[in-house]
Amino acid sequence: MANRRLSGFTSFLIPGISSLLLFQTLKSQPLPSLKETFKSNFLIGAAVNVQQFEGKDSAANRVIAQQFNTVTPENIMKAEIIQPGWNVYRFDYADELVAYAQKNNLKINAHTLIWHSQLPAFMQHMQDPDSVRKYFVDHINTVAHRYDGKVFSWDVVNEALNEDGTLRNSIFLQKLGPNYIVEAFRLTQKAAPNTKLYYNDYNIEQPKKRAGAIAIIKSIQSAGVRIDGVGIQGHWNARNVPLQDIEESIKEFSALGIEVMFTELDLGVLKNPWDNNTADVNAKADSKENMNPYAGGLPDSVQNIQSKAYEDLFKLFLKYDKNVSRVTFWGVNDGQSWLNNWPIRGRTNYPLLFDRHFQPKEAFYKVISTKAE
Ligand code: G3I
Repeated sequence: MANRRLSGFTSFLIPGISSLLLFQTLKSQPLPSLKETFKSNFLIGAAVNVQQFEGKDSAANRVIAQQFNTVTPENIMKAEIIQPGWNVYRFDYADELVAYAQKNNLKINAHTLIWHSQLPAFMQHMQDPDSVRKYFVDHINTVAHRYDGKVFSWDVVNEALNEDGTLRNSIFLQKLGPNYIVEAFRLTQKAAPNTKLYYNDYNIEQPKKRAGAIAIIKSIQSAGVRIDGVGIQGHWNARNVPLQDIEESIKEFSALGIEVMFTELDLGVLKNPWDNNTADVNAKADSKENMNPYAGGLPDSVQNIQSKAYEDLFKLFLKYDKNVSRVTFWGVNDGQSWLNNWPIRGRTNYPLLFDRHFQPKEAFYKVISTKAE
């Protein structure tokens, strides 16, 4: 497996060239940059963690500066972190992120204002609708207003839908009624007039859930409230990327006059104990020996499947580059991905373009190569 990167390259870059010669050729060339390669097409981003934006992960920081022009905070702008107590805000991380982004010329997609998950303990079981409404209004007004002009965009509402396209029975739906999504956008539009506003969810490329997302977007638009885009998260399995559904979704969402983004892209290579490609963070399963087959390394055969999947996906993104405004990976390198701990803790997954040593994988070069065709 030592030579797996090289053997992958030979198959598509320069057929017939020896691995040694190819290795020397590649080493002598500067690493291509995703953000440069796709600069006329769409923004290219990564989810970042505290270590990274505090500058404590120098290898990651090098990759971020070289490869990406936009970042999404993986966790620190979520409600439980930014407002851990009633009217007690903790802005230090988000402020550091803003400074890091300014220094490195990165746009920030802020994630996320209204989400049923990762809520602060004080409001998770609130019974009184007036209290929930006060939390809802205050949270949006305070957080969105503070970062207006400092972040580029907000995932205003995250994951409000069930798989069948109905609204998720969250505390917001229960206490505020179905209009809470329109209200979230209305409040954010007022508090953050200079910030783009998005709806973000997983599996909304699937027909039923997509119909639910379209209904949400239309309800916001028909209320005369601004929505600038929709984020298809893109947590897919490398063996099963739903290309046709993705293409159909790009067409249907852009027909509504909004931007389409791929906001949390990763193509995992491990099987989950169920088949439905969920990204629900509350779905958990027990660890089983045979569920972690690549702990010692990623076989070439699987790496090839993943590379092809990324290549096909980016060809599709390029075909619709008038409609697709951003592609963000959910992490910088394989070792930092949430998929190593979900839905089973302690597995070894390989979902991103950079390996655990920050080396570009075959998939990285395949993605870059889509631009040359
Ligand atoms: O920071 C604590 C640490 O102090 C503690 O010791 C440790 C013990 O488990 O937990 C740490 O917090 C974890 C946090 O990530 C930071 O690493 C939480 O347990 C863990 O649940 C949390 O997971 C995040 C998850 O959202 C839930 O918020 C993942 O990193 C993050 O990648 C994931 O991202 C979501 C998007 O926001 C929405 N779409 C799906 C996507 C994947 O689930």
